[in-house]
Amino acid sequence: MEDRYLTIALAKGRLAYKTMDLFNEIGISCKEMEDKESRKLIFTNETLKVRFFLAKASDVPTYVEYGAADIGVVGKDTIMEEGRRVYEVMDLKFGKCRMCVCGPESARNLLEHHEMIRVATKYPNIAKDYFYNSKQQTVDIIKLNGSVELGPIVDLSDVIVDIVETGSTLKENGLTVLEEITPLSARMIVNQVTMQMQTERINNLLARLKEHI
Ligand code: PRP
Repeated sequence: MEDRYLTIALAKGRLAYKTMDLFNEIGISCKEMEDKESRKLIFTNETLKVRFFLAKASDVPTYVEYGAADIGVVGKDTIMEEGRRVYEVMDLKFGKCRMCVCGPESARNLLEHHEMIRVATKYPNIAKDYFYNSKQQTVDIIKLNGSVELGPIVDLSDVIVDIVETGSTLKENGLTVLEEITPLSARMIVNQVTMQMQTERINNLLARLKEHI
């Protein structure tokens, strides 16, 4: 029997429910967490010495870096944007989508000719890395907090860097994918000290999860 709690941080929302389904399949469940109406943020399984908590997605890597959570489950987009010192150990293969440069068809030309364009995004670090390091194109990055598709529509920006899942948000707003930056999905991250001190427990957990992915 483990004497120490294993703490797992989940990104609030759809990803958290999918992650709980996966943990359920390997026998790690938390009855309390199934109540979707509950406002509770932390759930403990005393028998297995495991606790889960729900955090804002962008904070999950922070909890894991500082060891407040041993493990985190969050989108690759958040991991890339936050740039925290954590180990990314597994692709959970759900929450699949793409990080893309999008805009009106007319912006394609600006991209091809490496024009000085304005890029609106919730992900300034990913955008910066893509344009400055991968494409070597100088751009003006404008940070937004949501509804980024508005950028080119109201002439705040030429293009956006955003997540595309079904593509319907783009379509309904007259925008299209111009360039793909990277595919995304939910990933499991682990605190660096936990990985060293509890290697067996973590590897065992990873092996069991892998069988169900
Ligand atoms: C995300 C993303 C796109 C949309 C893409 O937005 O920023 O707007 O989903 O999905 P689709 O390709 O299936 O249409 P989210 O719902 O997280 O809201 P926000 O970015 O506007 O806050």
